[in-house]
Amino acid sequence: MTTIRAAITSVGKYLPEDRLTNADLERMVDTNDDWIVSRTGIRERRVLREPGKATAFMAAEAAKLCLAKRGIGADEVDVILVATVTPDHVFPATACLVQALIGATNAWGYDISAACSGFLFALSTGAQFIVSGKHQKVLVIGADKMSAIVDYTDRNTCIIFGDGAGAVLLEPDDTGTGLIDSREYTDGVGTLESLWMKAGGSMHPATLETVAAGEHFIYQDGKTVFKRAVVGMADVAAEVMQRNGLTGDDVAWLVPHQANLRIISATADRMGVGMDKVMLNIERYGNTTAATIPLCLVDYEPVLRRGDNLILAAFGGGFTWGAAYVKWAYDGETV
Ligand code: COA
Repeated sequence: MTTIRAAITSVGKYLPEDRLTNADLERMVDTNDDWIVSRTGIRERRVLREPGKATAFMAAEAAKLCLAKRGIGADEVDVILVATVTPDHVFPATACLVQALIGATNAWGYDISAACSGFLFALSTGAQFIVSGKHQKVLVIGADKMSAIVDYTDRNTCIIFGDGAGAVLLEPDDTGTGLIDSREYTDGVGTLESLWMKAGGSMHPATLETVAAGEHFIYQDGKTVFKRAVVGMADVAAEVMQRNGLTGDDVAWLVPHQANLRIISATADRMGVGMDKVMLNIERYGNTTAATIPLCLVDYEPVLRRGDNLILAAFGGGFTWGAAYVKWAYDGETV
């Protein structure tokens, strides 16, 4: 019997033009370029400053490029999944806004909230629609406008995050490429003290007091998150490799969530994968939350070859974490 898998058949990205460099941040908070580079690996991030534009805009631009490269119309898309923690509005879902912006007249869709693991969780979800035979073309988008929820007086968080969007198209494949395996985890214990946005939801709706107390910004206990991320990302990547009989030599690329260069190198170490086989763009974009992994896929697309074994791995708020084994479906850039 033929095995149908969900293959990534095209990718696209959007990055705002405005750059926020470490030198800019030196003028805003008590920090310095050396500290930021040595502790995180980040040199600059992108920030979407244009009024009237937010996550849906970036997601739609990434999606348009992704579809154009594959040469298919938006009306052919069946499902749009948008992973984000910075939706344009609490409701409607960002996916609905993207549907309208790109003119995907035959698509339905919804948002997935899993913070930095959002893209991985959405990929795994989207693949089910393909494998089940229900749908043929699923757009999976990771997009976040982190600048909307970052406190630019808090040096613990403002040095880390940036804005951006990445999109991939999933289509059925019976030739052995596509999403081979994935493993996802959630652990909600203790998460509210470590990584969250306190107000703005139904527990603490926006009031003058919540705004004055800065409760609509990200709060992060960096040390706790760091420790959990190092273990979580490395463990789950190793688990997926082990259950698929892969060694470091079999892996063409590690595609890690870009949170911190030190977390990434610990994961690569554990997998037995050299840093020359790790996709990196954290230096230029910082942590774009749900967008980091698809942004890596776009940036490295020209060097990817059909049959390459990719291990995608992420850790984020929730806590959420996971890894996916993808056999790449095509050579070089889609046109
Ligand atoms: N600039 C300069 N100094 C800073 C600083 C900054 N932006 N932030 C903290 N410091 C100082 C601290 O005050 C501390 O000083 P002290 O030793 O005099 O007390 C020192 O640097 C070390 O701080 P610490 O918080 O221990 O740094 P760290 O090595 O843990 O790095 C993070 C901080 C946030 C970069 C790191 O914890 C991290 O990356 N965590 C995970 C973040 C993440 O991945 N989040 C997204 C979800 S996946």
